[in-house]
Amino acid sequence: MTGIQIVQSASTVPERVVPNDELNAYMDTSDEWISTRTGIKQRHVSTGQTTSDLCTQVAQKLLDQTDWQASDLDFIIVATMSPDYMTPATAAIVQGRIGAKKAFAFDLNAACSGFIYGLKVAEGLLQTPGTRGMLIGGEVLSKLIDWHERSTAVLFGDGAAGVLLANDKQTESAFLASDLQTIGDLGDKLTAGYQPVNSVFASDSTDPHQRYFEMDGRAVYKFATHQVPESIQRAVTKAGLLVQDVDYFILHQANQRILDQIAKRLDQPSTKFLTNVADYGNTSAASVPILLNEVIQNDTIQRGQIIALSGFGGGLTVGTQIIKY
Ligand code: ACO
Repeated sequence: MTGIQIVQSASTVPERVVPNDELNAYMDTSDEWISTRTGIKQRHVSTGQTTSDLCTQVAQKLLDQTDWQASDLDFIIVATMSPDYMTPATAAIVQGRIGAKKAFAFDLNAACSGFIYGLKVAEGLLQTPGTRGMLIGGEVLSKLIDWHERSTAVLFGDGAAGVLLANDKQTESAFLASDLQTIGDLGDKLTAGYQPVNSVFASDSTDPHQRYFEMDGRAVYKFATHQVPESIQRAVTKAGLLVQDVDYFILHQANQRILDQIAKRLDQPSTKFLTNVADYGNTSAASVPILLNEVIQNDTIQRGQIIALSGFGGGLTVGTQIIKY
């Protein structure tokens, strides 16, 4: 029997760091407000790198860390809500740049749950023994932010991270169980990147939507603190485990308060909830793999441990993947 494994992880963030205090130049805010409401201290912001640039860097790092050739890859998935183009897909740009000639490549958009949805799709693609794939979450959210709108601008950051996945070892699968939910009727609580109908045939009526982030922060907070614990509970049960069997929780890094509240609802110690939101802010589909890579590289998590990965955000979407790392 062969099983699906996470073979390698890697991440990258733009060099430019923007601490909370620097945002005062563009909007009426303070480090005190941002830190106490969100736990965020700084974010990395692109000064020109695109989503495909960041994702290509991650792809190259992943290959450099193994003896795999780009031509060994069967597929590349990029989870993103901030692609360079509507077409070509970010994943197709990455595929071309690294020369992964055999791989089919496509983007997946489930906002901040994108990496978790991507794991589910990748699991399906990896059923055939010998299959190898790459899953990257990458975002340049700074281009979707109105940098004078304090209620959203302080929350987000740019970055990318990913994993190599393979079904080629005589071992049990690392993928134990998952739970994905979409609550589309709450989609208007969090929107970004609206594309107006502006052809020569379009009427002149004023369009109320805009391209920058718009969010009902309280509604999203309520959604996350209720739906994520339920999703984790369902996924853990499907895996035949109890919540206390989970060694670490790697959740979407949106807000430290949300993480603390979820820990409380699950009645689990906050030390099990790994966090780096202070350093990166909310990087949407990149946040779970950036944190996963960080805790793999610093040996916080060990092979054989039970990890719950969860995402939540635009859609609205929520998802959990339980893995035995
Ligand atoms: N600096 C200073 N003051 C601010 C700022 C700021 N950056 N932003 C808002 N304020 C003010 C508001 O204007 C308001 O002032 P008022 O009382 O005079 O009107 C006051 O602070 C309170 O504003 P609220 O929006 O009510 O603040 P709240 O306590 O709800 O915190 C927050 C806002 C942090 C956004 C919170 O609602 C939250 O975390 N929501 C969840 C957001 C989230 O996690 N999204 C993740 C999904 S993202 C994705 O999927 C891409």
